[in-house]
Amino acid sequence: MSVLLSIIYLIATVTFIVGLKKLGHPETAKSGNLIAAIGMGLAIVGTIFINDIEVPTIIYVLIGVAIAVGAVLGWLIAMKVEMTKMPELVSLFNGFGGASAALIGVVEFIGNDNIAGTEATIVSTILSAIAIGAITFSGSLVAWGKLNGSLKSVVKIPQYNIINNLVIIGIVAFSAYFVVTGNDNQILLYGLLASGLLYGVLFVLPIGGADMPVVISLLNSLTGIAAAITGILYDNMVMLVGGILVGSAGIILTVAMCKAMNRTLGSVIFGSFGATAVGEEGVNKTLGTIKKTTSSDTAIMMNYAQNVIIVPGYGLAVAQAQHVIHELEELLTGKGVNVKYAIHPVAGRMPGHMNVLLAESNVEYSLLAEMDDINPQFNNADVVLVVGANDVVNPAAHNDPSSPIYGMPILDVENAKHIVVNKRSMKAGYAGIENELFYNSKTSMLFGDAKDALTDLVAELKGM
Ligand code: TAP
Repeated sequence: MSVLLSIIYLIATVTFIVGLKKLGHPETAKSGNLIAAIGMGLAIVGTIFINDIEVPTIIYVLIGVAIAVGAVLGWLIAMKVEMTKMPELVSLFNGFGGASAALIGVVEFIGNDNIAGTEATIVSTILSAIAIGAITFSGSLVAWGKLNGSLKSVVKIPQYNIINNLVIIGIVAFSAYFVVTGNDNQILLYGLLASGLLYGVLFVLPIGGADMPVVISLLNSLTGIAAAITGILYDNMVMLVGGILVGSAGIILTVAMCKAMNRTLGSVIFGSFGATAVGEEGVNKTLGTIKKTTSSDTAIMMNYAQNVIIVPGYGLAVAQAQHVIHELEELLTGKGVNVKYAIHPVAGRMPGHMNVLLAESNVEYSLLAEMDDINPQFNNADVVLVVGANDVVNPAAHNDPSSPIYGMPILDVENAKHIVVNKRSMKAGYAGIENELFYNSKTSMLFGDAKDALTDLVAELKGM
């Protein structure tokens, strides 16, 4: 490899590390993303133009067309995507990463006339790229379908744990057979590819809605591992480092999310949390009756409060009410009320969703409190305003051992003196389960779209 290309790869590697570090904070995340993207662009250009291989012009033309089509499509999709649809997009991108790794593996295998004479480590690397890439591709597509609602319910296949284990054992056995025998049978190779695709589908299909963030993060880390493996194949440092960074960051995020839900990774993959159908009507008459409130009553309560905690959730993002909630917070602060936002780690539909949303409306970062910091403060809160959040404030996580979310850490809003919950109806949240908080004697329901309800609330407060 030329010295110039090595230097380019080194610069790209550094930009990935710096970019990843900057992604850790909302204020620096944008520039981090840009820095890593520039590094990636540099690495791509360097790889294409600085090499010792005789490349026919037509190949350059094909590469140019592929990059142009990819760049235009990527740009259009990224400009159009709504924040609430981000996890779907991430899932789709994961899938494409996996597909690339699998295709590279297939091409390397088919293009190698001497598999029997090839080192076992290289053959294993090729086969791993195919298997992991295929699992990531099909698994990510199923996750994408579940998130965008085209695959509506959780599919419970009878004895699926046994079937899954058999398929994965089959994949390992297939690969070992290839490596040991040096067999270059292409039909068997496609069998391995198909088994990988099947495993990806079987793995994600039975997983419940509320566990999807964990699964997407796990698939993301698998994409990184697949990219790292192809980096080994091509002896390409920047691919290897990029893959390792994605793989390890994905694993760290997966573990952090499992911790936030008080679940082990095994129970996510093999358990049944969130197995209730998404979006079910969840009115449970045995819990009693709910109490409704109005914007003017809520405004009066908040106006005379000393401490107010706002709990944002998925509905805030759907309603795009981040600007008006900031206006409400500023108005209350101007009246001498202490206002804080309580941020649950899995509120919304992607890690950091609420942080990103509130940063869009320039909410001061110091007003956002993490779950562990804010939970002891709910006792002193005069009013808690829950806006479009449901599962993350569901006391069943503490009180009901039969609940699928039992044991998941939640925001302890029920400890506050008064709770106002804004949502449009009595429908369940993402986990598809009833929420006893809504029936609590301290809770009042402020029904309506979050943007409309908060706009009314702001108007009422301005008049006081
Ligand atoms: P959810 O439990 O999903 O509840 C959101 C609530 O917002 C719904 O009950 C809905 O009730 C209400 N809503 C929807 N649109 C609204 C609007 N325009 N105005 C007002 N309210 C509206 O949300 P959460 O409490 O944020 O919990 C997140 C859930 O998603 C967890 O189960 C989590 O595991 C899962 N999840 C999280 C992620 C990550 S990483 N954050 C990714 C995927 C899934 P109505 O329909 O009655 O209005």
